[in-house]
Amino acid sequence: MRQAVIVGATGAVGEDLRRIAAERELPVDRVRMLASARSVGRRIPFRGEKVEVEPLVPEAFDGAAIAFFSAGGATSREWAPVAAARGAVVVDNSSAWRMHPQVPLVDADVNPEAARDRPIGIVANPNCTTLTITPVLRVLRDLYGLLAITPTSFQAAGGSGQRGMDELVDQTAKLVGDRELLRRGGRREALPAGEVFPHTLAFNVVPQCMGFDGSGYTLEELKLQNEPRKILSLPDLQSHPTCVRVPVMVGHSVSLRAVCARPVDVDALRSALSATPGVTVVDDPAGGAYPTPLECAGTNGVFVGRIRADLADENAVMLWSVADNLRKGAALNALQIGEVVLAQ
Ligand code: A2P
Repeated sequence: MRQAVIVGATGAVGEDLRRIAAERELPVDRVRMLASARSVGRRIPFRGEKVEVEPLVPEAFDGAAIAFFSAGGATSREWAPVAAARGAVVVDNSSAWRMHPQVPLVDADVNPEAARDRPIGIVANPNCTTLTITPVLRVLRDLYGLLAITPTSFQAAGGSGQRGMDELVDQTAKLVGDRELLRRGGRREALPAGEVFPHTLAFNVVPQCMGFDGSGYTLEELKLQNEPRKILSLPDLQSHPTCVRVPVMVGHSVSLRAVCARPVDVDALRSALSATPGVTVVDDPAGGAYPTPLECAGTNGVFVGRIRADLADENAVMLWSVADNLRKGAALNALQIGEVVLAQ
């Protein structure tokens, strides 16, 4: 009997892991659902049944072919080696293992072959914002020789899990009736405080995702430098990232400027992107057609529009890319990696 384990099955990504595993008919006979002590014993839906949530203990991985981790970096750091030692291939959604030299970092639509070589039994799933642009970057690399990127992200509350989405909804409910405050603005103390985001997110834009690292950049921005380099095998790719949190529930957007070694033919690029697995081109600006996060939430893949020549440099291009951060940005890509592993 082939078994899989989901660690963090009750969380925002865990919920999509369950849903997409059922949708895609993950080829396993049993899926064990693990979460923190407070959820143990809860019964959660999977494939039309209710499955009891179990505690995170070493024995939970015995006999498992694969384990999907989505319970935060600390849990992954401690427990991924435990699961791997018990024979499960770990597909990890956290940032804990992404830059480890013996851990492949895989966008299943870009470098799936990397998932087949796992020296320590762990495969890392990239950051959700990285996954919103990597298929596009691969096409640019292959066609024009990619040199530098300036990605500016517009990231949803759901990137901070269920708690992030709850905080946005609570703040919105508190503010929505107070037009005077919304019109005039208010001091920080007069606005609904939260625990997840550093400033009020509802009706606001916050230029910080995760903590600062001391260099003036946030950890999220550094991921946008380091992760595409590893996935695309472009160690010298220059990145100039800015990550911004916006009051969207689900769906990360990225405004991207890319500079290449050769002139970019925008029509040829649009055609190449249309033919790329995992990419849907929505690009008819005159008709008002371009991707938005609210319209992309709940769907699979990466959506690209506003593809346009740079105004100053023929070797550069500008575009807009959107993906559901819980699906392609997390659960879907993890399951696609799982399919590669299970097919081996
Ligand atoms: P629980 O729901 O019991 O807290 P999200 O990203 O939406 O915040 O979800 C995080 C997921 O990780 C949840 O399923 C959560 O379980 C789980 N989790 C968090 N900490 C642990 C832990 N120490 N051990 C096991 N599961 C954990």
